[in-house]
Amino acid sequence: MINIAVLGYGTVGSGVVEVINTNHKSINKRAGDEINIKYVLDLRDFPGDPVQDILVHDYEVIANDPEVDIVVEVMGGIEPAYTFVKRALESGKSVCTSNKALVAKHGPELMEIARERDINFLFEASCGGGIPIIRALNSSLTADEIDEITGILNGTTNYMLYKMSTEGCEFDTVLKEAQAKGYAEADPTADVEGYDACRKIAILSSLAYGRFLNYENIYTEGITRITPEDMAYARELGMTIKLLATSRKVGEDSFYAMVAPFLLSQNSPLFSVNDVFNAVFVHGNVLGDAMFYGSGAGKLPTASAVVADVVDEAKHLHRNIMMNWSSYPLNLMDMSEVEGRFFVRVKGTTVDCVKEAFPEVEIVNLKELPDEFAFITSTMRQGEYEERIRALADHIVTMIRVKD
Ligand code: HSE
Repeated sequence: MINIAVLGYGTVGSGVVEVINTNHKSINKRAGDEINIKYVLDLRDFPGDPVQDILVHDYEVIANDPEVDIVVEVMGGIEPAYTFVKRALESGKSVCTSNKALVAKHGPELMEIARERDINFLFEASCGGGIPIIRALNSSLTADEIDEITGILNGTTNYMLYKMSTEGCEFDTVLKEAQAKGYAEADPTADVEGYDACRKIAILSSLAYGRFLNYENIYTEGITRITPEDMAYARELGMTIKLLATSRKVGEDSFYAMVAPFLLSQNSPLFSVNDVFNAVFVHGNVLGDAMFYGSGAGKLPTASAVVADVVDEAKHLHRNIMMNWSSYPLNLMDMSEVEGRFFVRVKGTTVDCVKEAFPEVEIVNLKELPDEFAFITSTMRQGEYEERIRALADHIVTMIRVKD
């Protein structure tokens, strides 16, 4: 029997218990042993819920029990999760987590402790909800030099943008809906400001490029300034707006990464990724293009990924699964060097003035917004865009990047 302890009985924690109870026969068969939930840790009580029989309020009970083989951390946040996870690993217990903030900040250190002790620190559920993207990067795409990862990595914002685009819903209304469905973080600022997607692209990039990408160095912009008018322009162009998290290797030792809303054309494989779904597009030098798609947030999809890690750890109880992620830092190029096209809405100026600043542009007019127009630039370095746009500084309504 393999004993596990689940830290946190919130949305994901209760999902983990439900998944293990629902599929216990097939899970045990795949793990090669019986998975037994010995403890659930939470500060709260749950009267009437069978979990009450195995509920503990004090982490010491779990930390000091040598019968606990695997600790499942689904509390979220940095503390006390970091202290609990580190302590579990140091006492020889494998850990799996859905906590992207913890992995993005302390991943290299926690992986190193696991490596030294021949145990495991796994985090499949930290990126892309139920999509098995970490396992794919770690053990399937090993023949490739990966040079791009671009993902829709936040279910809440994808759900919100989809509803805003198709139903014309207000920002606050759709945010409340996403919260009610259990997609959003405890503090949804992390979703709508792009911080959640930022941590996820930092994790995926670190695994793909084998070096530690510090999320604090990633340029991050959320969706709070996206308006129904922007959506109307997107529709006019046959495009849509998505929050993308992307990183690219553009030279031998040259990388960029960013999180921002992008205008996407219908040619993009990410165009049709709607609702709470996530997708991760990967380009490898021999593979070419690949895309991973699935439920990006919510109780059971996330719990499914967590339990898959439990099974993997049960199968590798005293054997470390190698990860291609060193603590050697991955440095990013300056954003001014990053190339792209830019969609800009302007007011109180003329097409001639725009063409003086940007000789090659595509002009877009919307009947319902007669006082303004928009243009899309040709491909240029962001630094060049910033220099050229100065001439129109007083007329800009908004700028959104375009993904080719
Ligand atoms: N709040 C996150 C999201 C949960 O919406 O994607 C899954 O990480």
